[in-house]
Amino acid sequence: MQNAPLFPRNLLILHAAELITVSGSHAKRGPEMAEIGIIEDGAVFAANGTIRFVGKTTDVWDQVRTEGFAPEDTLVLDATGRCVLPGFVDPHTHLVFAGYRADEFAARLAGAKYLDILAAGGGILATVKATRAADQQTLIRETLQRLDTLLSFGVTTVEIKSGYGLDMETELRQLDVCAALSRKHPVRIVPTFLGAHALPPEWRGRSDGYIDFLCEKLLPEVAARGLARFCDVFCETGVFSVEQSRKLLRRAAALGMGVKLHADEMTPLGGAALAAELRAVSADHLLHASDEGILAMADAGVVAVLLPITAFGLREPYARARAMIDAGCAVALATDCNPGSAFSESIPLLIALAAVHLELTPPEIVSALTLNAAAALGLAEEIGSLDPGKQADMLILQHPSHVFLPYHLGVNTVDTVIHSGRIVRKGQTPVSSTWI
Ligand code: NIG
Ligand code: FE
Repeated sequence: MQNAPLFPRNLLILHAAELITVSGSHAKRGPEMAEIGIIEDGAVFAANGTIRFVGKTTDVWDQVRTEGFAPEDTLVLDATGRCVLPGFVDPHTHLVFAGYRADEFAARLAGAKYLDILAAGGGILATVKATRAADQQTLIRETLQRLDTLLSFGVTTVEIKSGYGLDMETELRQLDVCAALSRKHPVRIVPTFLGAHALPPEWRGRSDGYIDFLCEKLLPEVAARGLARFCDVFCETGVFSVEQSRKLLRRAAALGMGVKLHADEMTPLGGAALAAELRAVSADHLLHASDEGILAMADAGVVAVLLPITAFGLREPYARARAMIDAGCAVALATDCNPGSAFSESIPLLIALAAVHLELTPPEIVSALTLNAAAALGLAEEIGSLDPGKQADMLILQHPSHVFLPYHLGVNTVDTVIHSGRIVRKGQTPVSSTWI
């Protein structure tokens, strides 16, 4: 390896105690979530950022040599005693914001309710005020730190929503920040337009008018500038109704965007059924989703994105993950990182809650944070599993098995993070000098 270039084009990881492929190009539903493709003494080879070979170490070696890949172009890592798996995907965050709401958190601990705080002009609207007042550089600087934190936990792709502007200028600014961050930071960013996150004060009492403004002015502008891949809406009692959500999301779909919903989060309003009706890529939260809503989502192939950090922080009941899996749904997990209901980038906390409170098994957790999370962003053919042809986004854990993810409670067990074949977080995994 002495004469190897600083950044070889190829990467070979050998001798993983467990190499977890999660193989597939669409979401794993129901019992499929438990099938994660564990290869003992596994290896993976990536060329120019794309996965080429996956399998037993001896087989991958054979393929690498048969194809004539040169040692001087290849960095070789020895993952003996470690688990290798696809990079985590966080498919639901509100990462671009200014200001904090620590006072609200303390008030909620003392008994105040989230929706009451919002109705009184605080909550999301407090963050809207601070975000409108923040310039682009400030938003970029503060969000970069949050991206670094997510990356340290193994997140290689993240969805980021707007929704703290609620006017033309600031919504576009938030999405411009996402685009700027995509160029500055290795984490892959998927932007979502969430102009219907709350009713801004200047539209008080005129929520239908605000939805019309979004449909006629703001959404077309976002679409024309290509700033968002998805449109989302907070479909909730006292926020936006099912009818308003339907109207907005239909318009977004007509403009070529995918659709998602904050559905049945605080009250059972019927967001899950609406997601199924609209063939949304995902419905998120679902703490109060009805049995019918869950079945409709399973039938329509809508990914259920669960956010247990939010339920934990709000002291709400957890989503019924087991009922969803039994009904044949694909379940994904996300942090929901935002300054109000869930101020946390912590994947270890998310995993702990998923295991203990959502009752997901360790393999289900892996599927939920990789392939299913990718599917919740329409990216299951590009990322989320270790299959030839996909982007080489991979994690090497400190421990030999994926079971340590929930078992080592609340601790970051990610050693090395690889994005598109490049090491973006270097850990203790040794470089191997073997080349046979
Ligand atoms: O997903 N429910 C709406 N949106 C966020 C919270 C945003 C906030 O409180 O700032 C959520 O929980
Ligand atoms: Fe959210």
